[in-house]
Amino acid sequence: MAALMINGQTVNADVDPDTPLLWALREQIGLTGTKYGCGIAQCGACTVHVDGVATRSCSVPVSAVMGKQITTIEGLAQNGVLHKVQKAWIDHDVPQCGYCQSGMIMAAAALLKERPKPTDADINAAITNICRCGTFQQVREAIHAAANA
Ligand code: FES
Ligand code: FES
Repeated sequence: MAALMINGQTVNADVDPDTPLLWALREQIGLTGTKYGCGIAQCGACTVHVDGVATRSCSVPVSAVMGKQITTIEGLAQNGVLHKVQKAWIDHDVPQCGYCQSGMIMAAAALLKERPKPTDADINAAITNICRCGTFQQVREAIHAAANA
């Protein structure tokens, strides 16, 4: 049993400490907004925040995040108000199939926390998530829009 702090609440998950956080989130806790893509820290579909840092949850064991603040896509909006990245994503019609988009949004939100006005180079360096639908240009535009919101 692992006690995890997720989206501001303590949640007990019946998992081994070496279980990847992604599986605890999806299978035990039911937070299925975080997606499985590659399982080897390459695609970013599983990105969540751990103490505010974008983290690929498929490749982090539960034991490494106990006592840390975990935020998933379900916890990004605050008090019913969408995060500025979520608003920009809607305004710019970013998602296509949508599968990679939770991870993209979480990565973008973490980037803006660290760099409120990122350059294109900052975005290229930070957003290494893979989108099979090719939304990269819209992602970039929406990040700039969120930065200026
Ligand atoms: S599923 Fe975690 S990076 Fe691809
Ligand atoms: S929107 Fe389809 S994979 Fe990115």
